Amino acid sequence: MQKLEVFGANKLRGQIKISGSKNASLPILAATLLTNKKIILKNLPKVRDIETMLSLLQSLGSEIKFDKNRTIINNFQQNKKFASYNLVKTMRAGILVLGPLLAKHKSAKVSLPGGCAIGTRPVDIHLKALSKLGVKYKIDQGYVIASAPKGLKGNKIKFPKISVGATENLIIAANFARGITILSNCAIEPEIKDLVNFLNEMGCNIKWISKRKIKIVGVSEIREISYKVMFDRIEAGTYLIAAAVTEGNLKISNIIPEILKTEIDVLKRLGSKIIIKKKELQIIGNKKIKSTKIKTSPYPGFPTDLQAQIMVLLCKANKSSVIKEDIFENRFMHVAELNRMGAKILITGNKAVIQGNINFAPAELMATDLRASVSLILAALTAKGKSVINRIYHLDRGYENIEKKLKKVGAKIRRIN
Ligand code: UD1
Repeated sequence: MQKLEVFGANKLRGQIKISGSKNASLPILAATLLTNKKIILKNLPKVRDIETMLSLLQSLGSEIKFDKNRTIINNFQQNKKFASYNLVKTMRAGILVLGPLLAKHKSAKVSLPGGCAIGTRPVDIHLKALSKLGVKYKIDQGYVIASAPKGLKGNKIKFPKISVGATENLIIAANFARGITILSNCAIEPEIKDLVNFLNEMGCNIKWISKRKIKIVGVSEIREISYKVMFDRIEAGTYLIAAAVTEGNLKISNIIPEILKTEIDVLKRLGSKIIIKKKELQIIGNKKIKSTKIKTSPYPGFPTDLQAQIMVLLCKANKSSVIKEDIFENRFMHVAELNRMGAKILITGNKAVIQGNINFAPAELMATDLRASVSLILAALTAKGKSVINRIYHLDRGYENIEKKLKKVGAKIRRIN
C-alpha cells in the first residue's frame, strides 16, 4: 500500500495551478446520461473519484475517449439502467446517476452508497424529492429500485434540509419532467451553479428565481456541447491554508477569487496577507496567527470540506479556537491523529476546542478520509523531521498530483510503495 513521506519544515513558495473541480465534474458527468449525443468535457481532474464515475458511466453503456485534456462522452448506445454496488460503494456521488437514468429510461436500479467514515450520509432527501416527480421506489437488498412508468411530472418541491447531492439529482432529473418544476431550499454551492450552466448550454431551461429557488421547464431535446468544468475551490482553499501554515508565499492560480470570498476573509482575519488578482490569489503567511470561532455551513458559509485543514492552522494560533461542525455528524476523524502529533484538541459533540501555540511533532499517521488525509499532510509540512502518512488512497480520490504540486513549491514529500 502506498504511503507519503513528508519532511518538514519548509516554507512553501511559488505558484500552484488549481485543477478542475471534482465536485462539479461528478454531477456534470452524471448529467451527460440525459443525452444520446456527444459531450466533450474539459478540465476534469485526474483523480480516483472521476475515474470511478467514468467507469460507472461505461458500465451503463457510455463510450468514453480521451483526447489530450478533453474527455469525450458518447451516449449513442447508452441503454443500461443498473449501477452496481461495486462502483457506488467507494463514492457517494454514484447516487447522482439515479435522477438522469429515471428521467431518460423511466426506471433504474442503483446501489445505495452505504456508510461512510464521516457519518451515515443517507439519501432519503433525494428519494423523497424524486417521488414528488412521480417516481415510485423501494429499497431491496441495498439497492434503490425505482420507476416512473408514465415519465416524470414537474412539481413544487421544498427540500427539508439543504443538500448538495439532492439538489443536483433533482435539477438533473427535472429537465425531462413534463411541465415546470420549482425547487426551493436548494444548495447554492458554486458547483451547482456550474451544473446549471452546463445543462443550460445543452439546451435545458433552468433559471434561478431567488437565492435558493430554481425553476426548471422540462425539455425534450438536448444538444451536443463542449464544456469546461470550473476550478476546484476546495483544492484552492487547501493550498491557501498550506501557505498560511508554513508561513509561505504562494500564488494560487487558475481560479475565480470571488468564489473563495469566505475562505479569503477567514485567512485574512487569522493574519495572512492576501493579494487578489483577476484569476489568481497571492497569500503571504504570518508567523502570528489569531484565534477564532468557525462554524461550517452550506455555501456561502465556511465549507465542511476545509474544516480539517483550517484546524491545523488554528493549532498554531495565539489562543484557543473553536470549530463547530454543522454539516456532518462525525467529521473529526483527523483529530486523534493531529493529537498524536502534539495538538491539543478536545471534542465535545460537534464542537472542537483547539488549543493554540502548538508545534507539531513528526509521526507515523493514518489517513481516514479525503480531507482528513490532507490535513495530516499540512501538519506534517510544519513538523521538523519525517512523518509518514498511510492509507493515502483516500487522498487520491480528490487531489490531483498533490505531491508534484507541493514539491514544486518547496515541500519535501515523496510517495513510497
Ligand atoms: C457534497 C460534497 C461533499 C461535501 C458536502 C457538503 C460532492 C460529490 N460531495 O456531498 O464534498 O462535504 O456536499 O458540502 O459534491 N443528508 C441527509 N439525507 C440526504 C442527503 C443528505 O440527511 O438524502 C445529510 C447528510 O448526511 C449531511 C447533510 O445532509 O449531513 C449534507 O449532505 P449533502 O449536502 O447532501 O452532501 P453530499 O451531496 O453527499
